[in-house]
Amino acid sequence: MADVLIHDKVFTPFISREIIRQRILSLAGKINHDYAGKNPLMIGILNGSFIFAADLFRELAIESEISFIKLASYKGTSTTGHVVTAIGMEENLHGRHIIIVEDIVDTGKTLSAFLPEIHQRQPASVKIATFLTKPDALKFDVKADYCCFEIENKFVVGYGLDYDGLGRNFPDLYILKS
Ligand code: IMP
Repeated sequence: MADVLIHDKVFTPFISREIIRQRILSLAGKINHDYAGKNPLMIGILNGSFIFAADLFRELAIESEISFIKLASYKGTSTTGHVVTAIGMEENLHGRHIIIVEDIVDTGKTLSAFLPEIHQRQPASVKIATFLTKPDALKFDVKADYCCFEIENKFVVGYGLDYDGLGRNFPDLYILKS
């Protein structure tokens, strides 16, 4: 596979679609086991998670539901700090088993600001499924319960992740060439 140029940066092949598929099958197997009979509600965070969420959801063999939201992030006041609110969350989460689906947990800032809003709605449980984590970049107290790949602290594109709007459609994952 060849390097790709996106805007001003060169990215090199990193994780192939075949390996991605294997990990998704294994992650779906765990969720099938952990959530049998619980009808989990997967909540995908747009835009980045849409491909991962679709592939993962398709492999679930248990009764399950899916919905998508967008997060709006703003600075808030000095007392509220960084605020993240959900756009498009229409489901009643009360008593439901929630699996938040993310493309990547980088610093963890987005999820740590957003999780309180989920907990306020009194779900039965909340877990996080993410395609990627960058353990060396993590700065907030966010734990991914299900993760396909732990990667080094470098920028990646493909499989739903973008660099300034481009690259989401690549079936494989690419990493910034140094
Ligand atoms: P966090 O709040 O720092 O965890 O950032 C999470 C968000 O930043 C992700 O949902 C992505 O949209 C974006 N992001 C972080 N790292 C990357 C990357 O390597 N490639 C593309 N997007 C990224």
